[in-house]
Amino acid sequence: MARQRTDLLDPDEIKANLKTKRIGRKILVYDSTSSTNDIAAEYARNKQNDGLVIFTEKQTAGRGRVGNKWLSGRADSILCSIVLIENKLSAELLSLTCAVAVAETIGRPGRSRAKIKWPNDIMLNGKKVAGILLESKSLPISKSKIENRKSKIYVAGIGINCHQKKESFSDELQQIATSIDAESHSISDRILLAKRLLVSLDHWLEVAANNSEKVIYRWRELSIQLGHRVTLLFNGAKFTGHCIGIDPEKGLILQLDTGGIRMFDVAHSAIAK
Ligand code: BTN
Repeated sequence: MARQRTDLLDPDEIKANLKTKRIGRKILVYDSTSSTNDIAAEYARNKQNDGLVIFTEKQTAGRGRVGNKWLSGRADSILCSIVLIENKLSAELLSLTCAVAVAETIGRPGRSRAKIKWPNDIMLNGKKVAGILLESKSLPISKSKIENRKSKIYVAGIGINCHQKKESFSDELQQIATSIDAESHSISDRILLAKRLLVSLDHWLEVAANNSEKVIYRWRELSIQLGHRVTLLFNGAKFTGHCIGIDPEKGLILQLDTGGIRMFDVAHSAIAK
């Protein structure tokens, strides 16, 4: 059955009745870009652009975490980057906050619950449906503006698989990746999803600024690993244990099979497949 493309991203439609305070005050939609994170990083030079969102229908150089590529067909996904000028939240907490916001956008009542696989892969029925790439730069800050000195520029890049069919993924990827449509057996509306995403980010970023414990509590509730056995690689060495917690700065906390409790930070660890 041919699918009608009725959900091409349109900035006015995304903005219509968008009740956000910070995220999406400015929205730009590109037909094609290299990586939306690169475009957003250019806009981030101006701190007035806090909350600006770049969407694109196609990326020619989309990238994922740990040097991976992020591939998607035209108009099949939500591909966006958000400029965040922060002087309060750490990168680690921002990353967890974005994960909670994206998981809540995807996992709606009546649909399968989206879960978070540490640090910020979003999973539907055990397969990855979305990813987040948080990048940062230091602002070239005017020394006269003391209150700005601690500001840091972040670009939160978010990719959500929406319309991909199972066959759109390579044989290898089919085992580990999915899309919203493939899991729901229906066709999602990317404009609605984009709106929900911005509302969810706006909400959770505000929560994080006021009470970070609430974000961590929600992250724990959405975690696919908490309370389960996890195997991960830390500096190349394999560790297995029961996941007993998450600390925003120190990472995943495991009760190791070999005895003892150990924390694994995001900079040095990767979840073993
Ligand atoms: C991951 O590896 O899980 C992170 C994937 C992030 C992909 C998104 S798509 C929009 C933005 N632009 C990019 O180049 N990457 C992010």
